[in-house]
Amino acid sequence: GKVGVLFGGRSAEREVSLMSGKGVLEALRSKGIDAHPFDPAERSLAELATEKFDRVFIALHGSYGEDGTLQGALEQLGIPYTGPGVMASAIAMDKVMTKRVCLSQGVPTPKFVALDAKATSSQRLKEVAAELGLPLMLKAPHEGSTIGIARVESEADLQAGFDLCAKYDDVVLAEQFVKGRELTVPVLGSGRDARALPVVEIRAPQGNYDYEHKYFSDDTQYLCPAPLEEALAKRVQALAVEAFKAIGCTGWSRVDFMVRESDNEPFMLEINTSPGMTGHSLVPMSAKATGTAYEDLCVEILRAAKL
Ligand code: DAL
Ligand code: MG
Repeated sequence: GKVGVLFGGRSAEREVSLMSGKGVLEALRSKGIDAHPFDPAERSLAELATEKFDRVFIALHGSYGEDGTLQGALEQLGIPYTGPGVMASAIAMDKVMTKRVCLSQGVPTPKFVALDAKATSSQRLKEVAAELGLPLMLKAPHEGSTIGIARVESEADLQAGFDLCAKYDDVVLAEQFVKGRELTVPVLGSGRDARALPVVEIRAPQGNYDYEHKYFSDDTQYLCPAPLEEALAKRVQALAVEAFKAIGCTGWSRVDFMVRESDNEPFMLEINTSPGMTGHSLVPMSAKATGTAYEDLCVEILRAAKL
């Protein structure tokens, strides 16, 4: 049948999505699938129905693509789509909600405080920094690809970091900084069949795995499978599956972690329900370590599309 590859969109991650979608589109076509591009930023969603797509591959990141709103429209139109449904997408798009749900299921996540972006005094900010310690992470809860994130090293930088995040969201997440190793784990499948792929470790120069490093620079090192003791790798994979299920994910997602240097304890940071599929992206890298080519990975994710 006819497949739509949805990419582009109108979130801050549009540029990343254009790269993901191009990769997915070419991969599906190379496998003989009748795949067509569809950019919801340029066309009306009603055209998804007139195009008569049998199913769609969502290669959109961020708001209006990854956050449950598009998933809701596809439910209404009766078009099966890849990845998690409305609820899981909406929870995962909010880092604060994700942390609350994961904590309630015993998945460890760094200590945090959710702050009102418009009504937090500098005094309150200092109290939070004292409580969580410095350095401290400040994050806009609804953004991806390291957009709207500040690492605050000293009290003097608190307000500027907060103001940066407050530009993007109504809430600013203040999160304890976990010093250690940065890991990510793709999860494929659904329910009892949900399974973790190999753990990927990210080693950016000076720990600066930012937007530029994620998509454009070649000096970040990726280790896959991550060189971890087997017990730790298994634990991180198990936590990834638990987090995936806790928020109700189906199809595929990618769960990000920090492992604390002092005691090797893993902490879940966030769940990405429409992970990047660019040439630099980590789900394809992990799948490759199991012998699954990028094209086959795309086909597998597409096959699992549902309503
Ligand atoms: N938000 C980006 C696309 C990712 O998680 O891969
Ligand atoms: Mg993210």
